[in-house]
Order: sequence, then C-alpha cells, then structure tokens
Amino acid sequence: MQVKNRATGTRVQRGAIREARMSDLVTPLLDRRKLVTGAVGLAAASALPRPALAQGAPLKVGFMLPYSGTYAKLGQFIDAGFRLYVDQKGGKLGGRAVTYVQLDDESKPENGTDNMNRLVSRDKVDVVVGTVHSGVAMAMVKVARDTNSLLIIPNAGANDATGPLCAPNIFRTSFSNWQPNFPMGKVMYDAGHRNVATITRRYAAGAEQMGGFKEGFTKAGGKVVEELTLPFPEVEFQALITRIATLKPDAVHCFFAGGGAVKFVKDYAAAGLAKSIPLYGSGFLTDGTLEAQGAAAEGIKTTLHYADDLDNPANKAFLAAFKAKVGQEGDIYAVQGFDSAALLDVGLTAAGGDVAARPKLISAMEGAKLDSPRGPLSFNRAHNPIQNVYLREVKNGRNAYVAVAQANVDDPARGCKLSA
Ligand code: PHB
Repeated sequence: MQVKNRATGTRVQRGAIREARMSDLVTPLLDRRKLVTGAVGLAAASALPRPALAQGAPLKVGFMLPYSGTYAKLGQFIDAGFRLYVDQKGGKLGGRAVTYVQLDDESKPENGTDNMNRLVSRDKVDVVVGTVHSGVAMAMVKVARDTNSLLIIPNAGANDATGPLCAPNIFRTSFSNWQPNFPMGKVMYDAGHRNVATITRRYAAGAEQMGGFKEGFTKAGGKVVEELTLPFPEVEFQALITRIATLKPDAVHCFFAGGGAVKFVKDYAAAGLAKSIPLYGSGFLTDGTLEAQGAAAEGIKTTLHYADDLDNPANKAFLAAFKAKVGQEGDIYAVQGFDSAALLDVGLTAAGGDVAARPKLISAMEGAKLDSPRGPLSFNRAHNPIQNVYLREVKNGRNAYVAVAQANVDDPARGCKLSA
C-alpha cells in the first residue's frame, strides 16, 4: 500500500519513509526525505541512485542512528555534528562532495544485522557511521567484519568493538564503556564514599559502564554494595529508588542517557534523596538533557570526555557554529559526530579521496591527531580514542568543568589482536 510522504510529496511504500518520533527533548533536525526506517525502508532505499564508485563522484555516507525512541536526540545530534564539519569544509570530505542516507535503527538490536546489511549491500554506501546503542553496534561490527565495510562508531561504547572484535576497518570516535567510568572510581573514593550502589539498564552498555566504575572503585578501596538494573528502555524507576532509600549507601553511581536520564534524575530528586545519598554518573546522565532536567540536575557530578565550558579554541568555535546552524546547544553527541567527519577527512585526504585506497586511508586514520572540542584526540592500536576524562558538575544548567579526572585515558583493548 502506498501513502503520501508529506515531507517530499512523493508516494512511498507505507511506512517506508517515516517521520521520526521526536522525543520531548528534540526539535526537528532531520532531512526527512532521506530517512529510511530499517525494518521497512525498502522502497525508499531502492529509489536512491546506485552508488558512484568512480573517484570524484560524491562520497555516500550511511547514517545508521536512532532517530526515534529514547536515544532519538543522541542520534540526531551525531548526524547534525557530522554535517556541521562537512559544511565547514565546503560540503566535502577529502575533496569529495558528500551525500547521505539516513536509516533509523530505533535502538533495536534485533534489527541491527538486517539494517547494516541494507546499507552496505543494497545502498552500497562508502562508509557507515553508527550507532548509539551498544547492542545494535555489536550487530553492525559483525557485519562490518564479514563484509570488510568501513565503519565509524560515533557513540556506542561496547567494549568488544575495540576489544576482541577490533578490526582494521572499524574505528570509534567516542569511548569504550569502560573509559569514562573507570576514573570515577577514584573520584568517588577521594570524595569519601566507601559503600556505593549502582543503577543502570540491563544491557551491554549498562553492565560494561558499571563494570568500569566497579574496577576503578574497588581498586581505590571502595565497595559496591548493590548493583540495581531495569530493562531497556523501561522508565519505571520507583521500586529501585525505594530500594536505594532502604540500603542507604554513601552514594549512587549510574548510567542512563537520553530520555531515560531525564526521567531518572527527576525521579531521584523528587524522592528527596539527592542531598542524603548523592547521585553520580557517567556524563551521559547530564549531557544533552539539562534543559529537560531543570533544577533536579543541579550539583550532580559526572565524568566524561567533554565539558560544556572546556576552555580551548576548538570547543568555543564548535559550540558557536553548532548553535548558529542548529539553533541548540551542542553536546558530547554533536562533538562525536563532528569528530567522526574530521577523522574520515584525514583518511580520505591521505587517500586522495578514494575510499578503495584502504591501506593509505586506514594508516592515516590510525595516526590522526585531532584538535577536538573535547581536547586532544588520538587513537590506540584497537582504534579507540585516547582522551582526557573530565570531572564535571552541573552548575546553572551547564556541565561545568571541575578538573581532569584522568588524563589521556586509554582503554586496555583487552582481547584485540591488532598490533600498533
Ligand atoms: C551505549 O549503548 O553504548 C550507549 C548509549 C548511550 C550513551 C552512551 C552509551 O549515552
């Protein structure tokens, strides 16, 4: 059955092009004409032109990101950050004009393999940029390995992607789940906390982020007294918050992001616990969410590879340009999108714009030293970022820089067989 797509006026297969359900955080940023939803995107995708392989033809970038659901704003800001970089380069990367295909992965791991296959095998994109959710990313990594497709992960922290599943054609511009959490262990211990409860969602990213924290906290001498979880993407936090009130730990460390982070911070404050049992988190808790969290977030301390007010020229220029283009404040997701384009630019420039010149492309990306808004950014042998992790505190609705929690944090890349 055919329906009319209001954005383009074209007739498409029902559901093939779908307007993203914006979360309450988001204003529309999408080029809806190009948005295909993974499960039902056939008509839209097959209507796209065949990829031009010849050098000089536009480079086809496939965004596989969540444009709907609890991580919608994260996906949209990655997309917008990437485009900002390309715009600043006159619409080109490595001298080649860029075209985009957008696929809404809906943060559904069960559709990850099909969606990734669709981009690489049918749409024949030159590079896939995705995604946010670790479970979806794991499916993408497996397809990228099987098909030798170039994949840049602009958020998902799944440790294995730059661990046992590392590969020459897979890069990450964000973090491993271990990375922003390990330094928090010492931060909380030094703040005097000895018995800490953790709370997160029951999926790969939740387990790995809390695992990184536990490693750092127990190494410092602290004890994790209870590890609370709830399914993704549920937001019924009340029973777990009641449990925290009963346990009375010295403090709580958590991982939530996007829409779930907004609700958790508000519910925690509403339960009256914020003063007696301080809430800490990896910085995803308060990045891109502060406007919606309002006063409930004030004073929360987090660790992340970014802070809003990092005092470096690259950050100031980035935030001003993002605000001018998108009309909203930039955040870590926008930075990670921006840096994904910057990394690809380095590789493509070295390869004369030819994605098929793989050895040149990859060795340039491996050696890239980016002047990122987050500070200096380079890559380890597993293609995971080496970067500072900052302690931040929410002050007047901003993630204000407090200190460097740990400089040049390098994920251990356990199980990765690539050599330096
Ligand atoms: C993940 O699933 O890896 C993930 C999702 C959202 C974040 C960070 C990590 O903000």
